[in-house]
Amino acid sequence: MKLFVFIAIVAVAAAQDKQPRPPQHREQFRVVYEWRTVDFEWESPGDRETSLNSSRYIPQNVLISGINFYKDNIYLTLPRMLDGVPATLAYIPANQNDTAPKLKPFPSWKDNTLGDCYALQFVQNIEIDRNGIMWILDNGRVGTLTQNPDAKCPPSIVLIDLKTGENKLERYPLPADVVNPSTTYLNDLVVDNRDGDFAYITDNSAVDPGIIVFRLSDKKSWKLRDTKSMSSVPEAALFRINGTTVNLPVNVDGIAMGPQFLTEDETVDRTVYYCPLSSYHIYAINASVLRNESLGLKGEGAIRPYVVDLGTKASQTDGMKMDSTGTLFFGLIGNSTIAEWNTTVDFRTGQRTIARDPNYIQWVDRFTFDDRGNLYVVVNRLFNFVKNQVSVEEVNYRILRSYTGLKSYVFGEDLMPTKPPHAAATAPTLAASLLVFALAHLLV
Ligand SMILES: *[C@@H]1O[C@H](CO)[C@@H](O)[C@H](O)[C@H]1NC(C)=O
Ligand SMILES: *[C@@H]1O[C@H](CO)[C@@H](O)[C@H](O)[C@H]1NC(C)=O
Ligand SMILES: *[C@@H]1O[C@H](CO)[C@@H](O)[C@H](O)[C@H]1NC(C)=O
Ligand SMILES: *[C@@H]1O[C@H](CO)[C@@H](O)[C@H](O)[C@H]1NC(C)=O
Ligand SMILES: *[C@@H]1O[C@H](CO)[C@@H](O)[C@H](O)[C@H]1NC(C)=O
Ligand SMILES: *[C@@H]1O[C@H](CO)[C@@H](O)[C@H](O)[C@H]1NC(C)=O
Ligand SMILES: *[C@@H]1O[C@H](CO)[C@@H](O)[C@H](O)[C@H]1NC(C)=O
Repeated sequence: MKLFVFIAIVAVAAAQDKQPRPPQHREQFRVVYEWRTVDFEWESPGDRETSLNSSRYIPQNVLISGINFYKDNIYLTLPRMLDGVPATLAYIPANQNDTAPKLKPFPSWKDNTLGDCYALQFVQNIEIDRNGIMWILDNGRVGTLTQNPDAKCPPSIVLIDLKTGENKLERYPLPADVVNPSTTYLNDLVVDNRDGDFAYITDNSAVDPGIIVFRLSDKKSWKLRDTKSMSSVPEAALFRINGTTVNLPVNVDGIAMGPQFLTEDETVDRTVYYCPLSSYHIYAINASVLRNESLGLKGEGAIRPYVVDLGTKASQTDGMKMDSTGTLFFGLIGNSTIAEWNTTVDFRTGQRTIARDPNYIQWVDRFTFDDRGNLYVVVNRLFNFVKNQVSVEEVNYRILRSYTGLKSYVFGEDLMPTKPPHAAATAPTLAASLLVFALAHLLV
């Protein structure tokens, strides 16, 4: 099939835009791929039919959610919310002429085997860091939208070093005392390649929402909780879109991370932004606070003094993505809108609508950048999926693209601390040894 694109979406200034337009021209979004249902490249011609017959593959139950990019491929996540999802992570070549390409399981069919704890079970989102490491959130529990969710395997961080081409899975199960396998919902993450590589992960568990921090250098993890900023609120739990109303009280969900900055005491920090799906607010916290393990042990409210409410937006937001210069991209679900915010400007006045279209922008889920300055968006009509009213006669999943000339936050500039990075952390140890010294004196 020949590649066709719709120049579908007209950028319009929305009523809430109070900021003058930035000088550079934003290219309009185009539809680059669209699917009614997701199909795969099967191992053999008979395999598809067998899978259909056995309900291992139920086409209308396969939802595209997350997106990421590396070299020549676009990686897509297919969370196993319902039965009949044969693979939970897959890819398509970035440059091809088919507008509804078949997905190839990644790394392989075998690595997507349901019930095999060496394989991927339930992947909502992934991130690919600047070193070519793919960070996969595998929630382990499948059938989250069914009557009987099944915690098949421990919730884990799974890493794949894409540079080697071997695509070996390295699995790090999260300890049950940090992450409850029967209630957790590992939703989205940002990766910070400083000081041993950290992932900040939103857990939108219905009973215990929080941000999980995973430090790769020693595989340690902890969870930070703040009900006020991480829980859904009733006034934002109703979604009205495309003539459908759906009640979805979903906790902390989207997460993004700003460029590095130098603090007054000359260490490097960055701002982490997050929002519950069912909320009109965006919150910010410094990464240095999330990295403080002792705050994780303190439980609910320990990080409250460090959380900043940046203000409200016109509607709810699922995924968000930051570019390397500190511009945040996010959807406004009830407004069929894609918006951007220059994070150096006040959030309340700095939001701008960059695309609005009631037909083509029906539930913005996730964003990614490629390495050529393009921003990609997954639109997936999630409201139809959760209401079990997906029509296989309509286009349900689209990938839109717009050229911005920029890259993902993972390629942001590295700042050098003028003080050694561990100065703050070693201070208490030094104080402690001085105390030991003093006690030793007393004992003499
Ligand atoms: C699938 O089911 C159809 C109809 O029941 C049957 O004709 C066909 O042989 C089955 N195919 C396989 C591969 O089992
Ligand atoms: C896409 O189509 C064009 C023109 O038909 C052709 O030259 C090109 O090789 C095709 N690209 C791929 C990746 O198939
Ligand atoms: C992060 O820390 C800096 C000081 O290093 C402070 O000025 C800023 O307000 C903090 N940001 C948040 C979101 O708390
Ligand atoms: C945006 O959507 C919300 C519902 O989520 C609605 O209340 C509001 O009026 C909309 N705003 C605009 C500018 O369309
Ligand atoms: C963001 O705002 C700052 C301060 O107004 C400005 O210097 C910068 O150029 C803006 N960035 C973009 C991408 O417009
Ligand atoms: C819902 O979206 C479809 C596809 O864009 C469109 O044809 C239909 O008119 C929309 N329905 C409503 C009620 O907005
Ligand atoms: C971590 O938080 C504790 C409060 O629980 C505080 O006393 C300590 O200074 C913080 N450590 C760092 C390195 O910021």
